[in-house]
Amino acid sequence: MLSEAARPYIDASVPVLREHGVAITQHFYAAMFAAHPELKNIFNMGNQASGVQQQSLAAAVFAYAANYRNPDALAPVVERIVHKHASLGITAEHYPIVGKHLLDAIQAVLGDAATPDLLAAWGEAYGALANVLIEAEKKLYAKAGVTPGELQTLVVREVRDESDNVKSFYLQTQDGKSPGTFQPGQYISVAGTVGELRQLRQYSLSDSPEQAWWRISVKRESEQNPVGQISNWLHDHIKAGDTLQASAAFGDFKPAIDGEAPIVLLSAGVGITPMISVLNTLASRNPNRRVLFAHAARHGGHHPLRSDVRQARARLKALTEIQFYETPKASDEVGVDYQHTGRMALDKLALDQLPDASIYLCGPSGFMQQQWKSLVGAGIAPSRIHREVFGPDLLDHIL
Ligand SMILES: Cc1cc2nc3c(=O)[nH]c(=O)nc-3n(C[C@H](O)[C@H](O)[C@H](O)COP(=O)(O)OP(=O)(O)OC[C@H]3O[C@@H](n4cnc5c(N)ncnc54)[C@H](O)[C@@H]3O)c2cc1C
Ligand code: HEM
Repeated sequence: MLSEAARPYIDASVPVLREHGVAITQHFYAAMFAAHPELKNIFNMGNQASGVQQQSLAAAVFAYAANYRNPDALAPVVERIVHKHASLGITAEHYPIVGKHLLDAIQAVLGDAATPDLLAAWGEAYGALANVLIEAEKKLYAKAGVTPGELQTLVVREVRDESDNVKSFYLQTQDGKSPGTFQPGQYISVAGTVGELRQLRQYSLSDSPEQAWWRISVKRESEQNPVGQISNWLHDHIKAGDTLQASAAFGDFKPAIDGEAPIVLLSAGVGITPMISVLNTLASRNPNRRVLFAHAARHGGHHPLRSDVRQARARLKALTEIQFYETPKASDEVGVDYQHTGRMALDKLALDQLPDASIYLCGPSGFMQQQWKSLVGAGIAPSRIHREVFGPDLLDHIL
């Protein structure tokens, strides 16, 4: 909770910081990496270069400042951040470094407007948020039974092509076991090497936790310039028999497997991965559950993990599957491979027939924003909608 003395400064500066937010975080990262180049091994330098993470940190700080009277509004955001931080091995010792450079950046960008009282108020706000995150991260590390930053060496048992641009990697411990328990929807951080740097990326576990392996299914990011570093490294260099370094499983996107209420899974592109983990787990643990699974893909060549859905379908007695292809190929068969041409549209899902269902979304940010808007616009309470974003969450749905 913020002190009475700090509140007016925070209230007055939130709009100013929003305006200068990106400049502040750009300044912050440049100064922090200059002073602590070792942190480049923890941060995603692809996000740094493209600027997305910079907006994300700014958004989190503003969201906190704007919501200090109503901390509950931030609970889901905090959950997402702490799981991400835990998968990256962030420790309490990192926080003063970030705090110092963030305050320095606020001072540099605001100039004379950054009075000592205003900086003290932001120091207090940062400290309060940092404490919340540090405590929650400690609990996550303890629950996972790992020391912060610890990675395990896993053996790649098999690499399988799933579509034109997705490969699955089956990972086990050296003695052929599952690397650990997880809940469907959770992810791991995988380490790769880019030049001198170690880089970590998150990959959702795409199979059921009951299997004797972890499986990740990775899309090769090759359509944009520059191409994605770790996804291409995994596709080009990692083969059966190699080893990979990976974190324990973390993530707050955990669709409920048990229970009777219907469940709706909506995904696009490689956002299908956590949904397949959920489907495979439901198929063995709760096969009578009513499930609506809708997925959007460009066409059949970009539609991974279809054999998993076929196998799950054989066991899930009340599964409805609706497939959208944006631009089907001549070889794609309507009614067999897909039901609808175009992007996913809510009016094709008949969600009004599932009024008590929880809805889970995963896909690229454009898909997420569109579906979120349509769902809320259709009168669905935001508390029923849960999301996983495959990149830094820009938090624009709550700001
Ligand atoms: C919780 C979570 C779960 C995920 N699950 C999966 C999954 O199951 N499967 C999956 O395939 N992915 C998943 N992802 C995404 C994954 O973590 C990576 O982001 C993805 O593989 C791309 O990583 P990369 O290293 O290949 O690309 P990066 O090198 O990080 O590049 C990413 C993007 O940034 C752009 N970029 C890089 N450098 C620059 C620059 N200098 N200027 C401008 N733009 C630049 C690139 O063009 C590219 O589009 C998940 C992400 C999260 C957060
Ligand atoms: C109060 C302090 C902090 C806040 C508010 C904060 C906020 C955030 C947010 C919002 C994200 C994006 C989460 C998502 O994926 O949606 C994030 C990710 C991340 N944070 Fe923090 N963070 C804080 C402290 C730290 C510290 C101390 C470190 C370590 C030096 C750190 C390192 C990272 C890294 C490496 C990522 C992953 C994203 C990337 O690499 O691009 N953060 N943080």
